[in-house]
Amino acid sequence: MLVRLLVKAGAEVRCAVTEHALQFVTTLTLETVSNNTVYCDLFSRANKHSTEHISLKDWGDMLVVAPASANVIGKMACGIADDALSTLLLSFRKSLFVCPAMNTQMLESPALQRNLNTLRNDGVRIIESESGELACGATGNGRMAEPEEIVRQIIRYSDGQAGENSGGPKAGGRRILITAGPTYERIDAVRFIGNFSTGKMGFAIAEELASRGNEVILVTGPTHLATAHPGIKRIDVESAREMYDAATSYFPSCQAAILSAAVADFRPEHTAPNKLKKQNDHDGLTIHLVQNPDILATLGKMKRDGQRLIGFALETDNELQNAQSKLERKNLDFIVLNSLNDPGAGFGHDTNKVTIIGRDGTLKTGTLKTKKEVAKDVADLLT
Ligand code: CTP
Repeated sequence: MLVRLLVKAGAEVRCAVTEHALQFVTTLTLETVSNNTVYCDLFSRANKHSTEHISLKDWGDMLVVAPASANVIGKMACGIADDALSTLLLSFRKSLFVCPAMNTQMLESPALQRNLNTLRNDGVRIIESESGELACGATGNGRMAEPEEIVRQIIRYSDGQAGENSGGPKAGGRRILITAGPTYERIDAVRFIGNFSTGKMGFAIAEELASRGNEVILVTGPTHLATAHPGIKRIDVESAREMYDAATSYFPSCQAAILSAAVADFRPEHTAPNKLKKQNDHDGLTIHLVQNPDILATLGKMKRDGQRLIGFALETDNELQNAQSKLERKNLDFIVLNSLNDPGAGFGHDTNKVTIIGRDGTLKTGTLKTKKEVAKDVADLLT
């Protein structure tokens, strides 16, 4: 189905298979749908050239491994080349997509997750599996993404690349982490410490970057906002520590991160398991707060060459000076400064007024714009 859909979308397709794959599908089927020779045996004399598996690396613009078994993912992560496909994978230097498909326990095993992270760090794009009925009869995560979804992601990626190559401002084809919304820090079973952030700014940036052909990982605190774009992978979290865990685990595989969340700086040291009751003596209640980890500063320390990091700052006084010092302290490339002193800007509004400060000292003060327009300005920082 995948080959057929790609051909229908205008691609020229050649298939390379492992011996195990031929237990599921025949060479004849693949040759018929692709209208091309199928490559299987590393040393086969039946091929026109004995080095055909290597010449394929120059022929294709992109290589899609579908379905990608735990075995082939492990080989790719370790650089093992012991058959036609793994040899081709090791020598291929252009866009590489991997569509994992396996049993849930295998998918969730630490070794497989480690291998997937290695591939992400190597620039391989993982088209995440879905939940559903698996080949082994069980139901759970590990089912290969639907062929239509794989084709959609490939087309979105190549559209993004085309935008990038045309020199236009719409860079795409990257994996970008975004944090958005507030965090809730639990006091007891029914109460929390939070803030008035709605997530509108972060969601607008996510939509903008996804529409430019990027894969967006949106880690969001509690919000009523919905995400529609298929290029956005949404991860819902509640507390700062959950946001920290999600952001630090995705950042290594991303080319950029934009942290717009209003993270609670403090959380109650203890969360009461039940609802706290009123005391009779009218003494009030003291909650001891401890500091949350600073996600942005942590990513600033993790940042590798080539990765970009953009933070937000919400200031009420000494705005420029404070924002500038946050930019340096947290090792950012840009900081987007919101001022609470500007009417129409900040929490809950559909408009915002920001000043963007660059690491090189550049300073751009915007006018009051819709959050959608501000999102475009922020997305342009990654071009
Ligand atoms: N931020 C974060 N983790 C935190 C606190 C803040 O990732 N625990 C991020 C926000 O998402 C934002 C930036 O840091 O991008 C600045 O947030 P802000 O609240 O303005 O600054 P703080 O670093 O918390 O400093 P202060 O509260 O002292 O102004």
